[in-house]
Amino acid sequence: MTPHQDSVSAIEWKNERLFLLDQRRLPREEVWLELRDAPAAADAIRDMVVRGAPAIGITAAYAVVLAAQRQLAASPGDWRKGMDEDLQRLAQSRPTAVNLFWALDRMRRCLAQVTDNPLGSLLDEARAIHQEDIAANRRMGELGAALLPERCGVLTHCNAGALATGGYGTALGVIRSGWTAGRIDKVFADETRPWLQGARLTAWELIHDGIPTTLLAEGAAAHLMKSGRVQWVIVGSDRIAANGDVANKIGTYSLAVNARHHGVKFMVVAPTSTIDMATPDGSGIPIENRDPNELLSFDGRPIAAAGADAWNPVFDVTPAELIDAIVTEKGVVERPTTEKLARLGVGQ
Ligand code: MRU
Repeated sequence: MTPHQDSVSAIEWKNERLFLLDQRRLPREEVWLELRDAPAAADAIRDMVVRGAPAIGITAAYAVVLAAQRQLAASPGDWRKGMDEDLQRLAQSRPTAVNLFWALDRMRRCLAQVTDNPLGSLLDEARAIHQEDIAANRRMGELGAALLPERCGVLTHCNAGALATGGYGTALGVIRSGWTAGRIDKVFADETRPWLQGARLTAWELIHDGIPTTLLAEGAAAHLMKSGRVQWVIVGSDRIAANGDVANKIGTYSLAVNARHHGVKFMVVAPTSTIDMATPDGSGIPIENRDPNELLSFDGRPIAAAGADAWNPVFDVTPAELIDAIVTEKGVVERPTTEKLARLGVGQ
């Protein structure tokens, strides 16, 4: 067991190429895909080869390096021309995680500054985005774990772990740190319908690092809270509006309502790259709707009555008033409001 319980990673840059651990195939098999251009990276994000807000941003950043490689090879004297199309394609891959747009903006700013061959600068910037994310997760791990009482039980939702980030994880970073420090005694994870991020990914990465994990159907969460076995719900986020409303995996809002009813505390762990100060409140956050077949079938086989339709929004918005703490790498915001979030100094 490693001292920090952080042996999982899902994004690698090697030999001038981007490699992604195919999360659609976990936990059954560990298959790495090699990506050679930006359209392939955009497809990988849309199809959930890679998922989780920070991981999507990091992937897009490396994909901009792939885009420049391709444009330079195709037209060395006029490489900038084709870049916009690739950047737009990446931006259209998924709508909710603001980290995608944040990372693309950083790469655009870097592009604007280069005068000759851009590859070195772009790769440095993508690597910086990746490394800063890991450092932020470690810091948030410490800050979030410090909020927990001794030997408590926690419940998490979806996968906000090493697989969803550059490494270590946001919510699972706090769980890793809290477990290592002996503050957490019991970890529960919602299976997270319909894509089963909890059952397939969270359980896989925590067990991989020696942290025992108990799965439950998310319908069992209120019953669990009533039993007194969890003191904190700990989740990640895809986008936090300026007033502290939090978009995260569908079902997060129900957990927050249930947590408040049962006196269970609710913690959101997210780097400042997830905070969108340009969106005043949660009503402005675009919510992705995915293919109804993700609900109507399982493992490629139909499970619903023939003729049934399905509604598949994959994120929801938890109002700020239901959140006890937002943990960022720049500090903890308790009972978030627009004024308190503004004090973090995140750019608009
Ligand atoms: O649809 P997904 O799997 O990309 O959704 C992921 C989540 O909702 C995570 O909780 C969020 O991105 C935070 S990841 C650190």
